[in-house]
Amino acid sequence: MSLSLIYARSLNYCIGKDGRIPWHLPDEFGHFKRTTLGKPIIMGRKTYEDHQSALPGRLNIVVSRQSNYSVAEGIELVSSLAEAIALGLSYNGSSSEEIFVIGGVSFFVEALPQASTVYETIVQTNIDGDSILSAFDFSDWTTSLLEEHAADERHAYAYKVYRHHR
Ligand SMILES: NC(=O)c1ccc[n+]([C@@H]2O[C@H](COP(=O)([O-])OP(=O)(O)OC[C@H]3O[C@@H](n4cnc5c(N)ncnc54)[C@H](OP(=O)(O)O)[C@@H]3O)[C@@H](O)[C@H]2O)c1
Repeated sequence: MSLSLIYARSLNYCIGKDGRIPWHLPDEFGHFKRTTLGKPIIMGRKTYEDHQSALPGRLNIVVSRQSNYSVAEGIELVSSLAEAIALGLSYNGSSSEEIFVIGGVSFFVEALPQASTVYETIVQTNIDGDSILSAFDFSDWTTSLLEEHAADERHAYAYKVYRHHR
């Protein structure tokens, strides 16, 4: 099994504001979709509440400490990251498959030590938000730039997509 993280952050490490992603970048979302399609995706309850439905073509696993929390059809509810990873493994049926952690902050921090790949988008702006990621140190990882996207009429901000691997 390989565990991957995928997120987009601003220059000042913000990933969310008022329960939402603080930008609308359709091509960046396309990268997220292409990368995670067909894979199990693990998310915290607040990340789930941003869209409140299953992201299609993926096993959606929501983590909450509330055992009676109600989720939409097609979504699996578990109570810990370990349980979520175990469920993702059983879905894959293979130990070599990739499982994604898609947020939020505490799950990125908890999952990083077990992760072998991090897909990091850096959105070229500063955001005054409330979900702030730690500044992870990738200096011992192998980093490649996957994509550089300019601001345009559909994208208010430029962004760069990196892949960190170890
Ligand atoms: N830019 C990006 O790439 C990106 C990605 C993901 C999310 N976001 C944004 O980030 C924000 C949400 O992220 P967040 O960090 O605030 O919240 P989150 O991690 O999505 O959800 C937090 C909730 O997850 C559950 N949880 C957390 N740790 C747990 C643990 N160890 N065991 C069991 N349950 C646990 C708890 O749910 P209960 O309270 O129900 O127990 C907790 O309140 C939103 O604004 C979202 O749009 C951005």
